[in-house]
Amino acid sequence: MAELCAMDVIFLGSGNVATVLAKMAVDRGHRVAQVYSRSLLNAEELADTVGAAATNRLEAIGRDADLYVSALSDAATLRLPTTLRLLRGVLVHTAGALPVETLEPCAINVGVLYPLQSLRKQKIDYEPFPLLTQANNSDALALVNDFAESLSPVVKSTNNAERLQLHVAAVIANNFSNHLFALAEQYCLQHQLSFDLLKPLIVETATRVVDHAPSQMQTGPAMRGDLVTIATHLNLLGKTPALAQLYATLSASIAGMHGA
Ligand SMILES: NC(=O)c1ccc[n+]([C@@H]2O[C@H](COP(=O)([O-])OP(=O)(O)OC[C@H]3O[C@@H](n4cnc5c(N)ncnc54)[C@H](OP(=O)(O)O)[C@@H]3O)[C@@H](O)[C@H]2O)c1
Repeated sequence: MAELCAMDVIFLGSGNVATVLAKMAVDRGHRVAQVYSRSLLNAEELADTVGAAATNRLEAIGRDADLYVSALSDAATLRLPTTLRLLRGVLVHTAGALPVETLEPCAINVGVLYPLQSLRKQKIDYEPFPLLTQANNSDALALVNDFAESLSPVVKSTNNAERLQLHVAAVIANNFSNHLFALAEQYCLQHQLSFDLLKPLIVETATRVVDHAPSQMQTGPAMRGDLVTIATHLNLLGKTPALAQLYATLSASIAGMHGA
């Protein structure tokens, strides 16, 4: 991790990303000066854990911070009022899908600090995860990179298009696979089967891709071209057409990739 240049940071938002990044910032020796949230209770909850002041009024946000991190929902970041107008410091958002220019009406120096990890405020310790950075000028980028490098050994400067593409890839790899786990869990529950029995398989599948290309690790009936088994499964899923459709679509995708 880079040598620390301690910064004064203000967080807008008190949800998952704000909580994880604010705690990491304090752990690395930065000062979280203030937490803004539309709910004073939520602002106070995070502010208390990082030794910051709390506010639920945007007009009360301090003007002297080095870095302002907007970890609000995408919709709320898009609606930040121009009256915020920060003349110094850098205002970053943490969204994968919003262009860097989004916050330009609210500050002179704007940027992005996008954590490429699924973050939950209930979890305390994360293995180091990538931070994708961007800014609208070189001084701002240097400051965002300094901060990012103090939090993570993996910092990558990106542009809007690249970050958006990585966000799409992250949704496919993480959100979609988790949804498939949830569907399998639901299916097990419906049939009074224990989802716990599948957990070693899920862990093995996720662990393999650390050292191997996922395309080389595919197994299962669609990969083998085992049409009889696929037909048996689809027949079994007949009463849940949405699941049968998903099974058929994913099997076709696997077969297409592997020429099965
Ligand atoms: N979680 C992740 O894994 C992750 C990873 C990378 C990037 N991101 C990005 O980080 C940002 C925050 O995500 P998150 O997961 O931390 O979200 P979150 O836990 O839902 O927190 C969202 C924050 O925005 C506030 N908010 C929501 N709607 C608002 C509104 N209409 N007006 C004012 N404030 C509002 C919430 O306030 P209340 O507490 O009052 O609801 C909360 O403080 C998003 O841009 C997301 O795309 C998330």
